[in-house]
Amino acid sequence: MPKFLSLPLLALLLTAAGDPPLTPPAPCPAPAAAEEEDASRIVGGDPAKWGDAPWQVSVGYAGPLINARVAPGARAAPMGQRAHFCGGSLIAPNWVLTAGHCVVVDGRVVVAPGLLLVRYGGLRTGEPMPEARVKRVVLHPDYLTSPSQNDVALLELATPVKPVTVAGVKRVAFVGLAGDPGAPVLPPVMAGLRVSGWGKLASSDRAMAPDLQIISIDGLSQGACRAKWPDLLDVELCAGGGDKDSCQGDSGGPMVWQDADDRWWQVGVVSRGGKCGTKGLPGIYARVSSFQPWIRAQTGPAVR
Ligand code: ARG
Repeated sequence: MPKFLSLPLLALLLTAAGDPPLTPPAPCPAPAAAEEEDASRIVGGDPAKWGDAPWQVSVGYAGPLINARVAPGARAAPMGQRAHFCGGSLIAPNWVLTAGHCVVVDGRVVVAPGLLLVRYGGLRTGEPMPEARVKRVVLHPDYLTSPSQNDVALLELATPVKPVTVAGVKRVAFVGLAGDPGAPVLPPVMAGLRVSGWGKLASSDRAMAPDLQIISIDGLSQGACRAKWPDLLDVELCAGGGDKDSCQGDSGGPMVWQDADDRWWQVGVVSRGGKCGTKGLPGIYARVSSFQPWIRAQTGPAVR
């Protein structure tokens, strides 16, 4: 269990909310070799600029206690940083796509929607961002843990999000899905895939990145990936394996691809991996095209 999750706090919140105090969500089902201490570096990312990922959201815990539990003697984390635990993407006015393991408390039991807070339309988690409450958590019916399988979930927002464009630059936008009308199931060339998130800058970090990071990485063939990850599923895909990688806290966030008409499509959801940024070890992403029919059955057709 990664250290950044405040376990007693979550147990408390769950109890306070009237739910049984179960084991809290495991934000990352890390494989055995994954959590050694080292300064591996989202390792290799750049701070995002406005418009780089206007569909990016931060999924965090709601509630006044979030920033209250600080180790004795430690300084409080800036608002938002401690609350953030996963990424997600805006795919329709009322819907966020995230990872299944981001919302699972135990087995297939999902976190109470009232405990979640979605923040969007921003670059820095320490600064105020528009917020949306979650009305319903919809876990993929075939989600399984250890390692995560069918690692996707949807958050139905209580209030619809409106797109925002400032000076011609999109700050809040919906991303299409691989497999949506007009989108290929996979990019013709699996190169230049953009991954964004506020996850850790290195496996050894405790804190999340304050500034949204983006990387551009290439996909691998299933065969090449299976050589590194024998348990790779058909509904997953691999990308990276160089010095750029997603990391803990990026989970649930989008891997997107830009077509020749400058439209962006989400092809992956950050799911699992090894020690972040390990050379030769790609990150594993839920394959969005495999889940597009299920996703759109929940959300209705794509909106742009
Ligand atoms: N499961 C992690 C999370 O909860 C993300 C893992 C991605 N790891 C990687 N090395 N690509 O945030």
